[in-house]
Formats: sequence, C-alpha cells, structure tokens
Amino acid sequence: MKPEIDIIVAVAPDGAIGRRGDLLFHISADLRRFKQLTMGHPVIMGRKTFESLPKGALPGRRNIVISRNASFTAPDAETALSLDKAIALCDGVDKVFIIGGAQIYAEAIGSADCLCLTRFDRTLPDADCFFPAIDPAVWSVDEAGEWISDEKSGVEFRFETLRRKQ
Ligand SMILES: NC(=O)c1ccc[n+]([C@@H]2O[C@H](COP(=O)([O-])OP(=O)(O)OC[C@H]3O[C@@H](n4cnc5c(N)ncnc54)[C@H](OP(=O)(O)O)[C@@H]3O)[C@@H](O)[C@H]2O)c1
Repeated sequence: MKPEIDIIVAVAPDGAIGRRGDLLFHISADLRRFKQLTMGHPVIMGRKTFESLPKGALPGRRNIVISRNASFTAPDAETALSLDKAIALCDGVDKVFIIGGAQIYAEAIGSADCLCLTRFDRTLPDADCFFPAIDPAVWSVDEAGEWISDEKSGVEFRFETLRRKQ
C-alpha cells in the first residue's frame, strides 16, 4: 500500500526556503519539531539537501536520497533514481516525509497529502531557492499555531499543518 506523503518545510513569506545550499534560519524549536514529526518515518530528500546535512544521514529514520546519478552512494542512506522510485521503496509504510529541497518539493507537492509548514515572518535578500505556490483551492489549514519569537535571531515563526482538500 502507498504511504501517506507529508512534506515538511520551513518557508518565508515570499516562498524562500534556502540560500547558498543552507537553510534561511536555524531555529532550535523548528529543528525540534522537525525531529519529533519525522522520527521513525522514512525521510526522502534530494541529493543536494542530503549533502547539506551537517552530520550526514538523520538518525532513527530511513534516509532515501534521490539522484539521477546511478553511481551515487550516500553513507547510511538508500538511494533512488526518482521520487516515484523513492516512494515505491516505502511500500507498506504508513507515512513518509519529503524533506526537500526545492527541486524535490516542486515535484512532490502534486502528490502530497499534508504540508507541515514552519512559516517565517521574513526572508533574506539573497535567498536562492523557493517552495512552490500553495494554492488555497487545494489546501486547507488543519492547524495553525501562534506566532513565536526566536530570541536568538529575532525571527518570528509559527507552525501550520495543511491537508489536501478531498
Ligand atoms: N527550508 C526548508 O525546509 C528546506 C528543506 C530542505 C532543503 N532546503 C534548502 O534547499 C536547498 C537545496 O535544494 P535544491 O533544490 O538546490 O536541491 P535538492 O532538491 O535537495 O536536490 C537536487 C538534486 O536532487 C536530484 N534530483 C532532483 N530532481 C530529480 C529527479 N526528478 N530525478 C532524480 N533526481 C533528481 C538531483 O541530484 P543529482 O544532481 O545527483 O542528479 C538534483 O541535483 C538548500 O539551500 C537547502 O538548505 C530547505
């Protein structure tokens, strides 16, 4: 059986998600939520996102890395030649998380069931990769938290869960 497909992403008001191969902001509460939601589930990501992980494969989760390069290998991770093949590796699993980056989100949003968002209140001028537009005709807000201020960076953020409308 095909798993539920959840996208998890932290996004600025203009859709920005990263710059120079890194996240826009590193907010501990966001990283904690990411860990809590994804722990125990397979995580699927593009090759560039895998290479941006500071400590390599994420522990406690099956890491599946998508690359067009058939000889690409990743320590402690499985590889797949396409998003469909990555999802097919998870047949029988209840839920998988698509964890980025921009190329993989663009491909996955059409088949995702749920968007686990972190909304930031600001962007950075040199952001260079973006999440696709979230169409309110397709997605309904299931949960939206309060805005929280990150003391360290001053960035305001909030968590939202969106579900595909039936
Ligand atoms: N804000 C967030 O929540 C968040 C989350 C994750 C990542 N990010 C950010 O996103 C940025 C990275 O995103 P990105 O778009 O540059 O890279 P990416 O999506 O992580 O990886 C792109 C790579 O994935 C492979 N790929 C993409 N489409 C494919 C397809 N259809 N079939 C097979 N392989 C495919 C290719 O690998 P090969 O070149 O090896 O073929 C491609 O170069 C970074 O700045 C990162 O920090 C942000």
